[in-house]
Amino acid sequence: MTIVLEAKNITKQFPGVLANDNVDFDLRQGEIHAMLGENGAGKTTLMNIIYGLYRPDAGQVSVDGQPIVIHSPKDSIQHGIGMVHQHFMLIPVFSVAENIMLGDETTRYGALDRKTVAQRVRELSHQYGLDVDPHALVGQLPVGLQQRVEIIKTLYRDAKILILDEPTAVLTPQEAEDLFRIMRELTEKGVSIIFITHKLKEVLAVADRITVMRAGKVVGTVKPKETSEKKLAALMVGREVILKVEKGRAKPGAEVLKVDGLKVHDKRGLESVSGVSFSVRAGEVLGIAGVQGNGQTELVEALTGLTHSPGGQVWFAGSDVTNRMPRTITETGMAHIPEDRLRHGLVLSYAVADNMVLNTYYLPPFGVGGILQPKAIDANARKLVQEFDVRTPSPYVPTSKLSGGNQQKVIVARELSREVKLLIANQPTRGLDVGSIEYIHKEIVAMRDRGLGVLLVSAELDEIMALSDRIAVMYRGQIVTIAEAGKVTREQLGLWMAGAHPEGLSHPHT
Ligand SMILES: Nc1ncnc2c1ncn2[C@@H]1O[C@H](COP(=O)(O)OP(=O)(O)OP(=O)(O)O)[C@@H](O)[C@H]1O
Ligand SMILES: [Mg+2]
Repeated sequence: MTIVLEAKNITKQFPGVLANDNVDFDLRQGEIHAMLGENGAGKTTLMNIIYGLYRPDAGQVSVDGQPIVIHSPKDSIQHGIGMVHQHFMLIPVFSVAENIMLGDETTRYGALDRKTVAQRVRELSHQYGLDVDPHALVGQLPVGLQQRVEIIKTLYRDAKILILDEPTAVLTPQEAEDLFRIMRELTEKGVSIIFITHKLKEVLAVADRITVMRAGKVVGTVKPKETSEKKLAALMVGREVILKVEKGRAKPGAEVLKVDGLKVHDKRGLESVSGVSFSVRAGEVLGIAGVQGNGQTELVEALTGLTHSPGGQVWFAGSDVTNRMPRTITETGMAHIPEDRLRHGLVLSYAVADNMVLNTYYLPPFGVGGILQPKAIDANARKLVQEFDVRTPSPYVPTSKLSGGNQQKVIVARELSREVKLLIANQPTRGLDVGSIEYIHKEIVAMRDRGLGVLLVSAELDEIMALSDRIAVMYRGQIVTIAEAGKVTREQLGLWMAGAHPEGLSHPHT
């Protein structure tokens, strides 16, 4: 089979980290080659080198058997390489066609011929089953469609090699299915794809070959038929991973959070939470299941004080915290792992140690009498880095230098280690490797067993089912039912999430 891309002996050293250690990798014509590896293993670094964003210290990239010189993405694009990054680089106020033209050599000096571009976008869209309107404003498209725009952008530049870095992390299961269909269509038409993900099920379902990296090295390349989730996990992490969460029965205590008739509007002013009522008790995990976009984001934003709610009430730890400031709510004893880590969870330019006290730096032991206590901040950072296995050369590098999953671990470590009464965790394990997920799931169960309340929002039904004691299903801004976790099947949850009425099914409201 023809090899379209080959990376040989790639080495890349960052200060304190050997991110790629003599890596060999190849991509065959028309295949989906998946890349797996722990957070910080070096996957994104290797792709950034192939795409021309980083220069390797040593090694050579070849396309169609010819060594190529890559100084910047311009060179790699010329050789038919396209990359879709995990954080999209689109301009929300521009149309699809405008975003696609942006920065393209062929339009830069000529007149911007929007009509021709729109026509070409329509053709590509049709050819690959992408189904995107060239005139739509990017900012108004759901994430799944924005991702397609990124893909069309690479195809518009004649990409034959497509790199997708964790494309499914932000997609709903339905959107992910659509993406897999598109990926297959692309490969049938001769495009070759590198697909990075942490989801072992996906890898086994869509990949032709799977390469696993660990600590900067390639540790193996296997075919889905020859392996299993268990084997892949072990190969990635270098030990057995328990993929099942072990937990005993909950011993729920008093209510810590009570929400009554809460209403919230979304950014466009439309009602996205339409009067929801529920409570979370100490010592239990209440999971909120639902297809993304059914009001979960806005609900959590209202509970944590990030957005205003025009109706309803929220009581937390005995006081009315409706529409209070985030800081007040935090101080009352609420921890929050936000859905969007870059917007609400981290200051990327700050050191890891500072992000680990981002919302407690002014409280003892980190701030005493208005003076920061570097020793306490240092001790805290070193402890959390160790416990949560944050891969960083030191607690004092800017958090922007960490891999995506390790940035997420900084937030999780901070929020899980605080003295609180309630944890609101929104997509807590997004972008994390299986070993880290195992650890964080154990920690969440341990918090519950220490008597904390946990409100878990997750797009992963497996995660909801594994951790929750009760499961609330959100659909179109409402909680349609709350069920005992042990008494409800995956299929039933799926039906409720799709809008089926619980009354018509065998499990009543609780
Ligand atoms: N620009 C940079 N400066 C310094 N160190 C970096 C930089 N980019 C990456 N690193 C380091 O290189 C290592 C590999 O990072 P990389 O982003 O390639 O990991 P990854 O396998 O993509 O992980 P994840 O699954 O978390 O995305 C990490 O330890 C990271 O801290
Ligand atoms: Mg990465």
